[in-house]
Amino acid sequence: LVLVVDFGAQYAQLIARRVREAKVYSEIVPHTMSAEDMLAKNPKAIILSGGPSSVYEDGAPQLDGSLVDGRVPVFGICYGFMAMAQALGGSVAHTGQREYGRTNVEVLEPGTLLNGLPETLVSWMSHGDEVTAAPEGFTVNARSPRATVAAFEHVERQLAGVQWHPEVLHSEHGQAVLEHFLHTIAGCRPTWTSVNIVEEQVERIRAEVGDARVISALSGGVDSAVSTALVQRAVGDQLTAVFVDHGLLRQGEAEQVEKDYVLATGVDLKVVDAKDQFLGFLDGVTDPEEKRKIIGREFIRVFEAAEREVLATPGPPVKYLVQGTLYPDVVESGGGEGAANIKSHHNVGGLPDDLEFSLIEPLRTLFKDEVRQVGRQLGIPEAIVGRHPFPGPGLAIRIVGAVSAERLEILRAADAIVREETAAAGLDHDIWQFPVVLLADVRSVGVQGDGRTYGHPIVLRPVSSEDAMTADWSRLPYEVLERISTRITNEVDEVNRVVLDITSKPPGTIEWE
Ligand code: XMP
Repeated sequence: LVLVVDFGAQYAQLIARRVREAKVYSEIVPHTMSAEDMLAKNPKAIILSGGPSSVYEDGAPQLDGSLVDGRVPVFGICYGFMAMAQALGGSVAHTGQREYGRTNVEVLEPGTLLNGLPETLVSWMSHGDEVTAAPEGFTVNARSPRATVAAFEHVERQLAGVQWHPEVLHSEHGQAVLEHFLHTIAGCRPTWTSVNIVEEQVERIRAEVGDARVISALSGGVDSAVSTALVQRAVGDQLTAVFVDHGLLRQGEAEQVEKDYVLATGVDLKVVDAKDQFLGFLDGVTDPEEKRKIIGREFIRVFEAAEREVLATPGPPVKYLVQGTLYPDVVESGGGEGAANIKSHHNVGGLPDDLEFSLIEPLRTLFKDEVRQVGRQLGIPEAIVGRHPFPGPGLAIRIVGAVSAERLEILRAADAIVREETAAAGLDHDIWQFPVVLLADVRSVGVQGDGRTYGHPIVLRPVSSEDAMTADWSRLPYEVLERISTRITNEVDEVNRVVLDITSKPPGTIEWE
């Protein structure tokens, strides 16, 4: 375990991910945690993240000197580097001269940290103070135009740090610098792999669940697919997965879950065909929020009915519910530890009041890319593991206007073409998400063959993003757009126009509704 101490910057998650890419398990802790509590976790190393621009700022978080007294290897980054320098008796000057963004770092003495790297490293900086003298006994490894000391190390004491941000992609050889610290200076063994993650989780889930039964809701998305498969690997037949087919998925998705997923994982799957029920309640509804409410409500109803059926079958008590919570959600909600206890949803379905389920959240320590790796390790088909995020309310919020079976067919056909063409062009990894939207209440005039048409437009909404909070429209090659447009207008009845959404988020959201 490596602890990443979050000094309040946005970099902590990125650092934690890079540590894991070096095959060493990492967790984020807030800087407000006491040094004693951090050391009690018995970390193999501690990384101090970036943070406010100056150690002199009012209320700037302080570094407890006992963290760097040599008991645990420590690596400081940016603010963490300066805080470390100060705590160890080096000098930090408040120069007021800022160094932001791309900077050339000059290697003075490679030592262990910069071993084998070029003499100049293009690195990402963001600081206003400067370490002017390294603590006694430390080697100064590098400098930059505005940092007299841009990196230092004391290999015997297992302490090192850099002024720049090795975790960001723009910093050349950043991963190598981190790995030199982790593997060579701190002696962390690179054993965090998807094979080990699966083994560990399987053991843990088995121990926790015992003979009890477990229920899981599969949505067709990556997280629920992988968490369910992990629990299945651990407890086999004690698990029942419930897949509510609300009829709002894309072409082939429900079948993939029903056939390929079951084949690959051996999960005992209960498929509830609730298409008519959802379409019935959505009939004539055009307001986006109203659509969401109906879908959320019906989902719970259907799921609870399925749950009651499972409960009614003879067998050990059903005590657990699987949930696909990921590490970023845990960190962002304050990072509580231990399993939360929840009541079974609301009381809508008439389940007994005192029925309590414990949550099993096998992905709560993982990042999305790790979840995908684990999914591959478990043999889940790429078509499911590699899926782009897809909203719970599905295609209902990609039909602007009322939802109907016929309109869903049109949208599914157009969406399938988009997916085929982007996959064929090898663009899936460059695109975060690619909503395809049917403007069902809009018609425009066209001409096809010898005749006039009066059809609907399809909107293409490809976006790039890191976390869906902000997004930019993807600059897709014109040839790909052209193929998509030609195919949709030729192959999909009722559609005679294809338009491209070139709005960033903000101001536009990713979805149209
Ligand atoms: P917006 O449209 O708000 O979407 O920019 C941000 C991300 O969230 C997804 N999204 C949803 N996911 N239920 C979900 O599970 C929803 O109601 C919902 N609405 C939007 C959207 O696909 C994008 O990834």
